[in-house]
Amino acid sequence: MSGLDLRRAAAARALDLVEPGMRLGLGTGSTAAAFVDLLGERVRGGLDVVGVPTSEATRRQAEGLGIRLTTLDSLPHLDLTIDGADEVDDRLRLIKGGGAALLREKIVACASDRMVVIADAAKRVARLGAFPLPIEVNLFGLAATQIAIDEAIAESGCTGPATLRLAPDGNPVMTDGGHVILDARLGSIPDPERLGAALWSVPGVVEHGLFLGIATAAILAADVGGRAEVT
Ligand code: 5RP
Repeated sequence: MSGLDLRRAAAARALDLVEPGMRLGLGTGSTAAAFVDLLGERVRGGLDVVGVPTSEATRRQAEGLGIRLTTLDSLPHLDLTIDGADEVDDRLRLIKGGGAALLREKIVACASDRMVVIADAAKRVARLGAFPLPIEVNLFGLAATQIAIDEAIAESGCTGPATLRLAPDGNPVMTDGGHVILDARLGSIPDPERLGAALWSVPGVVEHGLFLGIATAAILAADVGGRAEVT
C-alpha cells in the first residue's frame, strides 16, 4: 500500500465530517490535496460548502474543482479545518510547514471551531523534532534574526542549526506572504511550549511551525496487512 493510498484513506474519513453548509478551512500539502480532491467530487454532486484555502496552491486546486471559496476577511469564523502535518504527538501537538504554508495554516486553523489533522500514521511520533521545524521569518535583518533564533533554540534546551530553506534553483523559498523559511534541525524538542514561546520573543519571526493546543483530532491511516487502517 503506497503512502498516497494512506493519505487518501485518511482524507476519505475526514470527508465524513463535512456537512452541508459548513465553512471549511482547506489545508496545504499532498494529504490536504487528497481531501480537496474528494471534496471537489462531493461539490460536483451537489454538496454546498464554502472554503478558505491556506495557500495559493490550495486556492488554485479548489478553484479548479469548483469549490466555492472565500476569505477570512469575509468569513472570520470557520466550522472545521482539515489539514495535514509533518509530525503529530500523542497530545495532538504538531509540526507543520513542510510545504511553507504554516502562517496561513495557523491563522485558518485558529479561526476554526475544530482542526482535524489527516496523515499517514508514520507521522505519529513519541516526541516532536525529528522533522526540521519550519520558522517563517521576515527578510529584513535575516542574519540578526537567525542569530537570535539560534539563541532562543539553545535557551529552550534544544540544539541544532536553523538554516535557510532553498528551492531547487538555489534561491530561497518564498512563502505566500513574501517571507522566507528557516528550518531548525533539532532532532528532538523536549519542551515544545517553551521553544514556541522563545521563538515568539524573537523580532523578525513571523510564525513557527509548532501547532500547540490547536488540533482537536487526528485521523491517521496505517498499512495493516495491505489494507488501510484508519484511526
Ligand atoms: C504545509 C504543511 C503540510 O500540511 C505538511 O507539510 C504535510 O504535508 P503532506 O501531507 O504532503 O505530507 O504543513 O505547510
